[in-house]
Amino acid sequence: MYLSPPSLPQTPLCLAALITNTFSYSFPGNGNLVFNAIHSSMRQWGSSLNHNGMSFFLATVPEGTELYHGDWRSNPIKGPEWLAFEPEHALVFTHPFPHNPPPKDGRPQPPPPLQLQQVAGKLNQAEDGFLHTFAAAKDLRLLYVDGMSAGKTHNGTMDSQDYILFLNELGDGGGGMFDEMARARLFCQMVQEKWDGRLDGMLRMEAGFEIILCDFARDLEALRVTRVRASEQGKPGDQIGQHAGEMWLPAVASRYWSIGGDRVILNYEHFLTAYLYELDLFSEGGNLPRLKHVPPDQLERMRRDLDALIMNHEPNELSVNWQAVADMVVERYGNRLRYLASGQASTLRQLQQEIEDALSPFIDYDQRNSSVEVERCSAQFVRQSTTVTSVAGGAVLSVSRSVCATLLEALDYTDYHTVVNQIQGLIDYLSWTAWKDCNGCGDHEICMIPMWPMGTVDDYNHPQCRDFSRLNGDGPRYWGGNPRRRMSALPLSF
Ligand SMILES: *[C@@H]1O[C@H](CO)[C@@H](O)[C@H](O)[C@H]1NC(C)=O
Ligand SMILES: *[C@@H]1O[C@H](CO)[C@@H](O)[C@H](O)[C@H]1NC(C)=O
Repeated sequence: MYLSPPSLPQTPLCLAALITNTFSYSFPGNGNLVFNAIHSSMRQWGSSLNHNGMSFFLATVPEGTELYHGDWRSNPIKGPEWLAFEPEHALVFTHPFPHNPPPKDGRPQPPPPLQLQQVAGKLNQAEDGFLHTFAAAKDLRLLYVDGMSAGKTHNGTMDSQDYILFLNELGDGGGGMFDEMARARLFCQMVQEKWDGRLDGMLRMEAGFEIILCDFARDLEALRVTRVRASEQGKPGDQIGQHAGEMWLPAVASRYWSIGGDRVILNYEHFLTAYLYELDLFSEGGNLPRLKHVPPDQLERMRRDLDALIMNHEPNELSVNWQAVADMVVERYGNRLRYLASGQASTLRQLQQEIEDALSPFIDYDQRNSSVEVERCSAQFVRQSTTVTSVAGGAVLSVSRSVCATLLEALDYTDYHTVVNQIQGLIDYLSWTAWKDCNGCGDHEICMIPMWPMGTVDDYNHPQCRDFSRLNGDGPRYWGGNPRRRMSALPLSF
């Protein structure tokens, strides 16, 4: 195995500059953020916490995969339209806006956000719609926009779509942020006019993963259309949408750590991330990147690279599964690092003993050599046959080296607090989402975090196990809006 650093533009070191010790391998900055994008890809958990996605991947959904569409109509769906991976997610859309007359073609138009509450009231009289169950008729070729990219928020969840993919073309007039049908149509038009029909749709996430598929008749086999269970909404004492949420959130939370069943396969070898362009993504402060304030001309190069990615690469190209490698690193070191920083080890000697336990497999005690030891430690999970030439491989190796080098260096320190501070600095740099997990909830609970349109500020800062019957916590809503409205806004796609 050898390393050839990716030939990429030099970037300003944003968060990457936080610790500056012996990180020998020079990935061009932001290795931690690229690592986390790979680790969180296609996962409800990490993509909800790091909800402002900055990356685009080519994705395949294998032929035969079952997919779901909820609708007030029972007749065949043409598309562009929406598909969910979990039926409970699609079911949320079987009762939409019955008193809004449907337009001649397409879905009923969502009301402007201000009217949402009134519309929610009308839902009480909703007629029960239909669940359309499909199977992919071929391997679907999709563009995956990462993060919570289907979350209709002002918080940056749609930045990469609206400022890179759609080049601001949607404007803010008309439906603005909520004009999802315009996004779907524009995407499918771009597939034909710009990308030679090389994609079938777009893959995004809100509370649940979804596909915007351009041509239902061509790409899906319709398995069945079934009438849904009579709505319980409007029963005395039932919160609007309460029961829907009880089914919906546990279903999507079961995909916190994997979409499961290889239902989506990403091409990690060739993907695009805004973290590797010279962009000031954190000008607003905080740890969530934004593209809103980046001058459009600075996004030009990334737009061209996105076209090139789609035109020159196939979603199903042979690719190392770099997420699996990232998992090995997180699982080997995640708990250990948290323990080391916790102060539970009582003496310096005990602390360093723990650290050495982790490193000793990579040490030849006849012949100490720290650079060799770091190299062995960080390459542990990369197959010998793999030549690391990709951005993903470079980022995963750069993060492994940060971990291995920091631990090895800590063996030489002579002061307990210096060791703990060093480990804490590493933890802050890594920001692994696994550290926010509740670590096990009851059978009728989930570890609740904000998943648009649900969630509170407290859910984000201190995720807790919550029973299915009280998933909507009290207090300020994470995505804004009225704190008294329990389901903060109704989802508008599907
Ligand atoms: C450590 O190993 C590297 C690579 O084999 C070698 O170049 C270097 O001289 C060694 N350092 C020491 C101190 O032996
Ligand atoms: C998201 O945006 C809304 C509307 O601007 C705001 O009220 C809310 O505080 C934001 N949430 C976060 C986490 O920034």
